[in-house]
Amino acid sequence: MTPFNRQHIRQHFAAAAPSYDEAAVLQKAVAEHLDERLDLVTLKPKTILDMGAGTGILTAKLLQRYPQANIYAADLAHPMLKQAEQNLQQPKLNWLPEKLCQKMGWQHCPAKLVNADAQQLPFANGSVDLLVSNLMLQWCDDLDAVFREFRRVLRPEGLLMFTTFGPDTLKELRAAWQHADSESDPAQHVNTFIDMHDIGDALIRAGFGQPVMDMELFTLTYEKPIQALKDLKAIGATSANAQRQKGLMGKQKFTQMLEAYQQFAQPDGRVPATYEVVHGHAWAAQEIIKGPNRDKSGVHEITLDDFIQQARK
Ligand SMILES: C[S@@+](CC[C@H](N)C(=O)[O-])C[C@H]1O[C@@H](n2cnc3c(N)ncnc32)[C@H](O)[C@@H]1O
Repeated sequence: MTPFNRQHIRQHFAAAAPSYDEAAVLQKAVAEHLDERLDLVTLKPKTILDMGAGTGILTAKLLQRYPQANIYAADLAHPMLKQAEQNLQQPKLNWLPEKLCQKMGWQHCPAKLVNADAQQLPFANGSVDLLVSNLMLQWCDDLDAVFREFRRVLRPEGLLMFTTFGPDTLKELRAAWQHADSESDPAQHVNTFIDMHDIGDALIRAGFGQPVMDMELFTLTYEKPIQALKDLKAIGATSANAQRQKGLMGKQKFTQMLEAYQQFAQPDGRVPATYEVVHGHAWAAQEIIKGPNRDKSGVHEITLDDFIQQARK
């Protein structure tokens, strides 16, 4: 895989911070699903880390679910955290009307905000009980380094729960670019996303046990392909490829790409943007526990329904 340009990722999310919440329809839906899965978890975490917390969409749910916990929201892009700070404000005095507290500025952000890279976390070994991450991992090209760091900060038997994108994500846009720009690598325009089996292998290598993965497909539809691109820009999700060179993309190629994308139009005329969302969880085990249904890589794949049934037993 071509290395990602971390500076580019940071800048894009920094620029996207003001427009992110309005455009992040998918991220909100996925955060909702991740949060629902926490219904099944009996762990009572004292310290929680929301990694790649962005503007705090998932952090807000964690604050509601675990009001007694110490919750850290960490992100590479400082402006995203500034937005989170605003979004997560709660009254300092909860016996007073919320509007009055707002007016008087008697508010605070109950989550601790940390500007940090997932590959280098400013947390002590074994200091986190629950580490969650919603749609950040697809921005990390060195999953081994990230999972090692996650494993280091989690206490033994602590839980990692995450979502990320799978290979079918933005398949229409990738195909449209391929059509318009056959000479170059489409990955220069659209990120490539790792298969869930490879994610499972990386978890095992980092010392996680019992990884469980499954995926769900989301399709957003737009009146025109350009709107799908505008949405991607608004959430900071342009290509993370280090070799992406500005200015090389001619207007003509861009128009060709839009025309090629239009060919995916559905009977109602709207164009789809597919997102393959991978859900995963794994335990920070002292030793990797071998389960009965595990395949050679140690990845246990089950449907969401089976997962819910097993968790309720
Ligand atoms: C698509 S947003 C998701 C934000 C949030 N979790 C949500 O559900 O809305 C991805 C976030 O990951 C952050 N990010 C990307 N790479 C990161 C890294 N290496 N370390 C920490 N944060 C990172 C970005 O700055 C961005 O805020």
